[in-house]
Amino acid sequence: MSSNRLEHKRIVITGAASGIGRAAAELMVAEGARVLIADLDAAAAAAAAAEIGDKAVGVAVDVMDEGSVARMIDRAVTEFGGIDVLCNHVGGSNPRKDLDLLRLDLAEWDRTMTLNARSTVVASRLALPHMIAAGGGSIINTVSVAGLVGDTLQCAYGAAKAAVIRLTQYIATQYGRHGVRCNAIAPGAIMTPALRDNLSADTIADIRSHNALDLIGEPEDIAWAMVYLASDESRYMSGQTLVLDGGLTAQSPIASSRRALLHD
Ligand SMILES: NC(=O)c1ccc[n+]([C@@H]2O[C@H](COP(=O)([O-])OP(=O)(O)OC[C@H]3O[C@@H](n4cnc5c(N)ncnc54)[C@H](O)[C@@H]3O)[C@@H](O)[C@H]2O)c1
Repeated sequence: MSSNRLEHKRIVITGAASGIGRAAAELMVAEGARVLIADLDAAAAAAAAAEIGDKAVGVAVDVMDEGSVARMIDRAVTEFGGIDVLCNHVGGSNPRKDLDLLRLDLAEWDRTMTLNARSTVVASRLALPHMIAAGGGSIINTVSVAGLVGDTLQCAYGAAKAAVIRLTQYIATQYGRHGVRCNAIAPGAIMTPALRDNLSADTIADIRSHNALDLIGEPEDIAWAMVYLASDESRYMSGQTLVLDGGLTAQSPIASSRRALLHD
């Protein structure tokens, strides 16, 4: 069911050929937007656009490469006449190399900072002049609960996402008077190809056991929040991080082991 919440919106989503980004592209088109599905996997981006319909266009991008990001932004402007919403959605780290601090591979630290944080700076800087020229826009940065609290592994990932959370506030502060809003979305565990590849079924069940809700999120759970932040419904919201994690980080760390106290 569509209610045209995003009519006339021209949206770029990086990493949109799969997972959460793909779900967001689909919902955004259903809400009336035109969406550039940008992804390292050009064939998957084209296939996703073909499945979603005429208002979706698939393009290749490598967010690690500034020239490639510039071509993506140019393509959006040529295709749609401007950009109203940029979703800096690509992110991640290699969990086999991004370990605890003493065992962390420093090359993976650098790669993770580039993939998650530098890429957000690069794409936002290229999109901002178009948003400013149009009188405003919305930048949506996908971060993670790993950017909010410490964890046993993946310290580069957590630090990079924390950097993006603060960057989100800086962009909101520096361009608010041009009508540009910038917010972040922090998912907890979401059932995507990335999660299935990186975590065992036991680990996923363990995360679920620690969530306040007896759930593991689906891509649409995050994608609906992206629709909200892309729409004018969120026009008074800027510089914030919206946490969608099944209540994981809302609790005291010992809450899940004390759940039995809730019942007689
Ligand atoms: N899935 C989760 O549980 C979860 C939790 C918290 C945060 N996140 C965040 O959500 C975002 C996306 O995760 P997902 O689960 O949808 O991932 P995914 O693996 O399902 O999709 C990622 C997409 O990004 C593309 N990609 C990878 N490197 C790229 C590059 N250099 N340039 C352009 N595209 C590239 C891939 O081809 C793929 O299509 C990331 O920022 C991730 O950190 C995910």
